[in-house]
Amino acid sequence: MSLRTVSREALVGSITLGVVFIVGYVFGKKKSSRMSLSKSHGEGKENPLLQYVLNHSMREHPVLKNLRLRTLEDSWSIMMVSCEQSQFMVNLAKLIKTKKALEIGVYTGYNTLNIALSLPDDGVVVACDVSEEYTNIGKPFWKEAGVEQKIDLRIQPALKTLDNLLAADQAGTFDFVFIDADKVNYDSYFEKSLQLLRKGGIITIDNVLWGGKVLNPTPDDADTVAIDKLNKKLHKDTRISISMLTVGDGVTIAIKL
Ligand SMILES: C[S@@+](CC[C@H](N)C(=O)[O-])C[C@H]1O[C@@H](n2cnc3c(N)ncnc32)[C@H](O)[C@@H]1O
Ligand SMILES: *[C@@H]1O[C@H](CO)[C@@H](O)[C@H](O)[C@H]1NC(C)=O
Repeated sequence: MSLRTVSREALVGSITLGVVFIVGYVFGKKKSSRMSLSKSHGEGKENPLLQYVLNHSMREHPVLKNLRLRTLEDSWSIMMVSCEQSQFMVNLAKLIKTKKALEIGVYTGYNTLNIALSLPDDGVVVACDVSEEYTNIGKPFWKEAGVEQKIDLRIQPALKTLDNLLAADQAGTFDFVFIDADKVNYDSYFEKSLQLLRKGGIITIDNVLWGGKVLNPTPDDADTVAIDKLNKKLHKDTRISISMLTVGDGVTIAIKL
């Protein structure tokens, strides 16, 4: 069909649709610069199906819930892992009888606390962050939940903590790792974590879709480039078996073979 035969109404109609689409797109982007498959921070208020999922699966410890609500008051609360993703990861950790866990990027420690709650009495989670400001928000909740003695918080660049653990002969002793800190170091975090992990242990990696940006990594966007590069590497890495889940902002599960 040539343009000439298209009725005026149809043409005006499509242009209007186009404008509506573009406006919707721009506004959608403004509202949240990241494309998210599911995010429950607002307890799924805008998404009834996600609300249904939360209503029918969440079993959040009361102190954990209070930490989530306290964290939502912080201006960086977007960084917190969603409660359903955290519960899933803790279920994975429990499945392999995790006693020793590692969290790279703690923020206020929502996931750290969730893991700590699942550990046996002699279990430990080594928690890596550079910010006392953020982790101090979580500490009173860790204490209230009675698991602070299971959380070994190390305030320094995570790479340094991982090197210290390796130097302290702890290679092959960790059961479970959650990588969720600065993206440019993701590959190093993965490599060092893999050394620290025992066979059959699990590494979970957050934000592997990076709000959809992995579809078009541009050279000047170091974070996206780093994530995409690691995704490509893990796909053919024979040291692990993997799944890439479309939960939250994308989570890769890597099991050490
Ligand atoms: C996305 S947040 C972590 C969220 C957390 N896992 C949760 O469950 O809510 C990322 C954290 O990484 C920390 N971080 C950034 N660079 C770091 C580094 N080089 N070493 C350790 N932590 C770092 C930030 O301070 C921030 O608290
Ligand atoms: C979820 O639970 C809340 C509180 O009980 C209720 O108001 C809401 O209708 C429920 N939504 C769904 C989709 O189950």
